[in-house]
Amino acid sequence: MKIYVIGKPVKHSMSPIIHNYWLKKYSKSHVYEKKEVCKDSLKKIIEQIKNKKIVGVNVTIPYKKDFYNLLENLSSNAKKSKAVNTLYLKNDNVYGENTDGIGYCEALKQEMNYEVKGKNILVLGSGGASFGIISELINRKASKIIVSNRTKIRCHQLIENFKNNKTKLDKMEWQKIEPSREIDLIINTTSIGMKENEQISINTKNLEKKTIYSDIIYNPTKTRTMKSFEEKGFLTQNGLGMLIFQAAEAFRLWFGINLTKQDINEAKRICETTN
Ligand code: ATR
Repeated sequence: MKIYVIGKPVKHSMSPIIHNYWLKKYSKSHVYEKKEVCKDSLKKIIEQIKNKKIVGVNVTIPYKKDFYNLLENLSSNAKKSKAVNTLYLKNDNVYGENTDGIGYCEALKQEMNYEVKGKNILVLGSGGASFGIISELINRKASKIIVSNRTKIRCHQLIENFKNNKTKLDKMEWQKIEPSREIDLIINTTSIGMKENEQISINTKNLEKKTIYSDIIYNPTKTRTMKSFEEKGFLTQNGLGMLIFQAAEAFRLWFGINLTKQDINEAKRICETTN
């Protein structure tokens, strides 16, 4: 049976490399493939999962929101993030989950030995990825989240979506990103840095060296913003761990298999050599 990553475009996705490695390792006869689809075929994909023609799918740009609107059964993460990146069958019903936030937080925990509980976090961006990650930061009881985004209205909508939680939420001007010393972690969820010459302007003068700068971009392996933080003596992390851990969570949903540390590390090594 097939599993797909669907989107438009999908040709750059590394998910097939990761999943096909694990499928082979666990002697599954399934094959994971990329599939570029149009919006009108999304309903058919849900039917195919329901009829056990395919195991499930991962969803990438631009359909995460569409599946949120199409599916009746959603995990609490998908509901809070208003986006779906994994579809799977449970008790004969097709469910939508969002594993972005779990993937991000697990990567932080496993790679950096870092827990978000009680932390003050600056999140850059208010797009789909930001929603998914913030949902999980709140689940894991972050103390405070400050959001900064170029388009103010999207930042406002994000804060409205997540208010009424114990985690405090606040905004910071995109034109003047100057985190205070209380900030423990900075997460870039924007696409700035995917092109080699792009850099986010962040004034680090107040920060203590405990602050970690984390980017969800994994190609290039080090964004310019990451490099500039490293030069100033801060620890940094790229997005490859998030990619692998969100994939591991999807694999668990499809097959009920908890992947080992070795499975994770090996998938990461394969991605690094393919990149
Ligand atoms: P994703 O689902 O990957 O998060 P998205 O929903 O398109 O994608 O969100 C992209 C994010 O990157 C947004 O926060 C976007 O800011 P806007 O809301 O102002 O569009 C941010 N972004 C992308 N390019 C940017 C740029 N050149 N400068 C500032 N922010 C940018």
